[in-house]
Amino acid sequence: MPLSTTPSLDTPSPPQSSDVVSRKARFWDRIARKYAADPIADMPGYEATLRRVQGLLTAEMNVLEIGCGTGSTALRLAPFTRRLLATDVSAGMIGIAREKLAAELLPQLAFALADADAPAAGPGAYHAVLAFNLLHLVSDLDGALASAVQALRPGGLLISKTACVAEMNPLIRWLAIPVMQAIGKAPHVLLFDADTLQAAMVRQGLVIEAVERHGTKGKDIRVFIVARKPG
Ligand SMILES: C[S@@+](CC[C@H](N)C(=O)[O-])C[C@H]1O[C@@H](n2cnc3c(N)ncnc32)[C@H](O)[C@@H]1O
Repeated sequence: MPLSTTPSLDTPSPPQSSDVVSRKARFWDRIARKYAADPIADMPGYEATLRRVQGLLTAEMNVLEIGCGTGSTALRLAPFTRRLLATDVSAGMIGIAREKLAAELLPQLAFALADADAPAAGPGAYHAVLAFNLLHLVSDLDGALASAVQALRPGGLLISKTACVAEMNPLIRWLAIPVMQAIGKAPHVLLFDADTLQAAMVRQGLVIEAVERHGTKGKDIRVFIVARKPG
């Protein structure tokens, strides 16, 4: 998966065309500074997710986060891991994440540029793959899940929290989002509900262990799923 890395906390992956990657990254590069500055909309829900994930991690684990954004979650979770490699397709996001990391003493954490849609190479190296607010944004859900599963050791966990856009109010789904996309204010999104997402994980051989919602503000379209690679 990684396209270019800092310290080698990762397994290498085949290179992807830089054109394809830079097209995907353009939207996120453009909004990276704003994304970093915006407050988290549901802080109690976010903290609940962090506590839940911390409970699944151990200090022996090698962990990969895909679509890490500006690294806030990786910075919080790295102390609970042996090593955490956090990746994102956007150089703008990774640049900010590295700025934040420079102010911390977290030798177990590294950030790298990588496309979650690209196939993972090599034998599964990770005890856990984390994907927060990502899976509705990839180009190909089955491909990205296959890549995540490939990166996992047998018995490893995929831990995802992501928006199920198909569960949104139809006016937002069919009107507001397309208008925002047309004016460059929203990215391409995949439309799935929680059942469809779980079915896609099961297709990749994962066993679903938990399906939860951690939101504290009305209807929560972001489903939290823990799924295990058998073995
Ligand atoms: C909504 S942000 C979420 C960031 C972070 N995980 C969080 O929860 O705050 C989505 C992130 O996914 C990244 N992204 C989108 N498509 C990607 C892909 N194909 N591979 C890797 N990262 C991707 C974007 O650059 C962006 O940083």
